Amino acid sequence: MYTHHTYKASELLVPIPRFIEDREGFFRLHPRIAIAAEKGFETTHQLALEVFGCKAGGEDILFKFQAGMEQEAYILTISKVQIVIKASTDEGAFRGLGTIRKLALLTGNQLPCCKVEDSPDFVWRGFMIDCSRHQFSIAFLKKLIDIASLFHLNRFHWHLTDDQGWRIPLDGWPKLASIAARRTELQYTDNRTYGRLYSKEEILDLQAYAHARHVLVVPEIETPGHASALLAAYPEFGCTGGPYETQDRWGIFDDVMCAGSNELLEFLSDAITQIAELFSSPYIHIGGDECPHTAWQECPRCQDRMRQLGLTDARFLQSWMTSKVCEMVHKAGKRPIGWDEVLEGTEHLGLPKDLIVMSWRGPEGGLEASKRGHQVIMCPNTAGCYFDYKHADSEEEMGNLGVSTLNQVSHFSCVPDSMQEQAKEQVLGAQGNLWTEQITTSRQAEYLLFPRLMLLAQQVWRPQEAERILAMRPILVQLCEALNLNCYRGE
Ligand code: ACM
Ligand code: ZN
Repeated sequence: MYTHHTYKASELLVPIPRFIEDREGFFRLHPRIAIAAEKGFETTHQLALEVFGCKAGGEDILFKFQAGMEQEAYILTISKVQIVIKASTDEGAFRGLGTIRKLALLTGNQLPCCKVEDSPDFVWRGFMIDCSRHQFSIAFLKKLIDIASLFHLNRFHWHLTDDQGWRIPLDGWPKLASIAARRTELQYTDNRTYGRLYSKEEILDLQAYAHARHVLVVPEIETPGHASALLAAYPEFGCTGGPYETQDRWGIFDDVMCAGSNELLEFLSDAITQIAELFSSPYIHIGGDECPHTAWQECPRCQDRMRQLGLTDARFLQSWMTSKVCEMVHKAGKRPIGWDEVLEGTEHLGLPKDLIVMSWRGPEGGLEASKRGHQVIMCPNTAGCYFDYKHADSEEEMGNLGVSTLNQVSHFSCVPDSMQEQAKEQVLGAQGNLWTEQITTSRQAEYLLFPRLMLLAQQVWRPQEAERILAMRPILVQLCEALNLNCYRGE
């Protein structure tokens, strides 16, 4: 905590705002001040009353409508006697509230006077959590969403299905709960199992919580690979008919959804329709990564499908699957997102133009997709965006597969240098991904996420010189303490 009145707002804020001017004096925030809001800011007003424990009725803090501002823009003025947040939308007002909350957390509620004018450079500012490998509680996901929203992040990509567990409740498919959601823990000999479906109530509750914080919850249903859990429950959806298991080992598995199975397509169509109803997100992520084609090459039904379509290579079958699943997403009134492998094997059948490509194996997928006219979300594992990777290349560090240093995250740019000017406009933004094979507790998840997610938040809000945000690290550690977050404190 900064106990001297020597700090300035300009030294405390991450993301660093577009414009900030320090002014003389302090505003003392305490439970007896009152908060008012003009029409249209009801959601943020309510939240402000809750987080500061204040009443409505007076204008010590005032959310004020100003026409003509961008969607997420806000102007914040803190004077000795009043705080005013101007915005055109509740979302803009909410971003202003986030800035006030951070100042309050860092200063023991003695807010330094200042003027801030702020707005983001990118619309997709996200984080992905894998809840298949490790199933986090809704309470913990809420904690993450609240903290992410303080750093102006606005997309929670919820990875809900994978080889090791299916988490989405769907009417009419009872074996998702009894088989696909549970894996036998092979390290024990007494058949104990791990995992369950989230309930619809939990999912709706989490969305309401997130949406009040202007964080969109984007569900992912993996197709056609990473599907062992589904196949264990419904073996007819696989090429060999099984038996399959909800996996308790990590990796890439040859058993994937059978591209020749019409029953599978009917299931996917129903699943996507139900997911579209359950989630208000305009986007559904359809996976697409790491799908071996070995089973398809041996499968009579897949071979038949290829003959009917005139396809000579199983790679082309994957793009057919992608297009089929995209059709289902469209029919459900939503827009598809896929991992960058969706770009492969597309020579014959192409891809729907509105498919958003998530570039994870490096920036190349994003470069290629943007050239082809697709919108792009960047999360290259080669440039710091994989938060399941270790913080440092040491035996003592926890983490998986690679290293994403704070330095790398600070140097991350959503728009690679080599990208053509016109293609740059296709980049929606970026996200950090937390895969959870190696995670057994939420404290470990925090350690891997923070402060990396805060540094990334800067680069998707308003890119800065790496050195400038690295210099803010003591502030970030302090914020983590104030937020009861376990965080990495090394280099
Ligand atoms: C991925 O990391 N397999 C998208
Ligand atoms: Zn097949």
